[in-house]
Amino acid sequence: MPEIIATTQRVEALNRAVGVLRAGDLVAIPTETVYGLAADATQGEAVAKIFQTKGRPSFNPLICHVDGMVMAQDYGLFDSAAERLAHAFWPGPLTLVVPRLPHPRIRPVHELVTAGLATIGLRCPEGFSRQVISALGRPLAAPSANRSGRISPTRAAHVADEYPESDLLILDGGACAVGLESTIVKVTGDDVTLLRPGAISAEQIAETTGLKVHRPGNHAGIEAPGMMASHYAPDAAVRLDCETCPDGAAWLGFGNRHQPPNASSGLNLSPLSNLVEAAANLYAYLKTLDAGGAGLICVSPIPHEDLGVAINDRLRRAAAPRAAS
Ligand code: TXA
Ligand code: MG
Repeated sequence: MPEIIATTQRVEALNRAVGVLRAGDLVAIPTETVYGLAADATQGEAVAKIFQTKGRPSFNPLICHVDGMVMAQDYGLFDSAAERLAHAFWPGPLTLVVPRLPHPRIRPVHELVTAGLATIGLRCPEGFSRQVISALGRPLAAPSANRSGRISPTRAAHVADEYPESDLLILDGGACAVGLESTIVKVTGDDVTLLRPGAISAEQIAETTGLKVHRPGNHAGIEAPGMMASHYAPDAAVRLDCETCPDGAAWLGFGNRHQPPNASSGLNLSPLSNLVEAAANLYAYLKTLDAGGAGLICVSPIPHEDLGVAINDRLRRAAAPRAAS
């Protein structure tokens, strides 16, 4: 059974986490976005356990979590646009994909983390996980702590649900404040590309860098494989932009729209139409409705503005046709 330790037990949680990570095992960590399944990024076998545990396709590179700019610059090349973004939004929900330093002066991040790419995804998370990284003195490779293709966990109990047979150590930092994975931006020189929308918007990135922010077209291929269709999938089918629903479907509402009387169950992401609240509730509510056993979850329209862009992005993936797996 997984073991859960509250981060309010600061010393015990830090000691246990660092011990487990040093020994090459995994620890689930709370971040402001979602829970991560973390390994010491410099230990290949530890990183491999992430792929094995998640059942994740191994061509997916992992985000490397650092405790600040000094550690980040040990592994990645930051020119002025990247540096400005880190300065403005770290610690926080922003991942910067930058050129990888081929010969870092310290123990390198394992190849499995970068999946053979010439770039590396770096993020400095807020809160307790940052303290864990500092105490370990090494970066943590950490994808979201869900099994591959499933909803990202935003509560410690959700992580435990994913791996009931394991003895995974889970640090419980409560509910994630943001509830959506980090914004991913690729920065090479003056070229800025938004690879995944998140709480930090394209507008904020453009404003901070003074540069045009590109969005990958089809030519970009699988630059961030997390952007593949059907990546964030509950068991139930998902239908978007619903005003009504078929008999027995579950209902995921937003704002003051009424739940259809023939829905079998329902939750409202934010009765007061607050997109930040909706983002923080999204995965937990999808999970709850999914657990109710409805075959279909109907989602009412979410405004396509601010954080609504990222929420709709995730919902579209949840609704995408499933690959057989
Ligand atoms: O909020 C988050 O980012 C969470 C928490 C735990 O930090 N992590 C997370 O990781 O969402 P993950 O592995 O589920 O998604 C990371 C995405 C993947 O789609 C991966 O392909 C992309 O980042 N990525 C990582 N390194 C990359 C690189 N060098 N180039 C392009 N994409 C990269
Ligand atoms: Mg993920």
